[in-house]
Amino acid sequence: MMGFSVGAVVQSVLLLAACFATEAARLPSNFGRCSKSDPRFNECMRANIEDAIHKLKEGSKELGLKRFDPLDIPELVIGEGKGPVNVVQHFKDVELYGLTGSKVLAASADFDNKMMYATSVTPELRLQGQYSMKGRVLLLPIFGHGPCNVTLVNTKINHTLTAEPFEKKGQTYWSFKDYTVTLRPERVIFKFDNLFDGDARLGDEIGKVLNDNWDEVFTDVRDGYEKSFGLIFHGLANRVFTRVPLKDIFLE
Ligand SMILES: *[C@@H]1O[C@H](CO)[C@@H](O)[C@H](O)[C@H]1NC(C)=O
Ligand SMILES: *[C@@H]1O[C@H](CO)[C@@H](O)[C@H](O)[C@H]1NC(C)=O
Repeated sequence: MMGFSVGAVVQSVLLLAACFATEAARLPSNFGRCSKSDPRFNECMRANIEDAIHKLKEGSKELGLKRFDPLDIPELVIGEGKGPVNVVQHFKDVELYGLTGSKVLAASADFDNKMMYATSVTPELRLQGQYSMKGRVLLLPIFGHGPCNVTLVNTKINHTLTAEPFEKKGQTYWSFKDYTVTLRPERVIFKFDNLFDGDARLGDEIGKVLNDNWDEVFTDVRDGYEKSFGLIFHGLANRVFTRVPLKDIFLE
């Protein structure tokens, strides 16, 4: 069902992550570390993850990460829904703004099961780029291509990460084999320019329909957004964890 869209995104994430296999790295010295025995470990992790996200705005040479805000996403495909959204949304040259404004509400780790959990809220997540689509939404025909802007307001995100340990030169690392995301925005604002080959009246009408029914429209394709964000975060998390030995992230 999602094979096509996720395939395209996987490709972009693999490109993003293409050079992580090389040198071991250390967490930048201004990043906090948490001790596993700290009775306030979860709070330590929550604060440090939030702080790290803010510090990564411009990226990190040490960690081989490009800028976080905006984050460049070469291609993103959101598949058709099962309900009112009978259209595949192709996005290209996307800049994702707003990740570094995220607040981490809670975080925890389960070392026995090699899992990590976090809940965050991002005040404004904006996907800006080029779109193309042709199909139907809420039974109305829709087609067009051009600049677009999809804004997710006050988005709560649950992150569930499952790791697999591996050894390299006598050091233990974590590689995440799964990164699952659930997204709950308070509101979504769609702006697709040049719908219907630039017919402004039709374009404004369908734009209004999309925004008046944002909940129904977004919910129908939420799965595609969750899988795409999951893959993007998965690539970023592995970039760090497969290069920094575990004992430099979580102190014994
Ligand atoms: C994108 O849409 C949001 C919400 O409508 C708006 O605040 C923002 O200014 C828009 N940005 C651009 C570049 O159009
Ligand atoms: C996150 O998980 C909690 C606990 O299972 C749940 O109550 C909440 O609705 C979830 N939030 C999102 C954004 O999925």
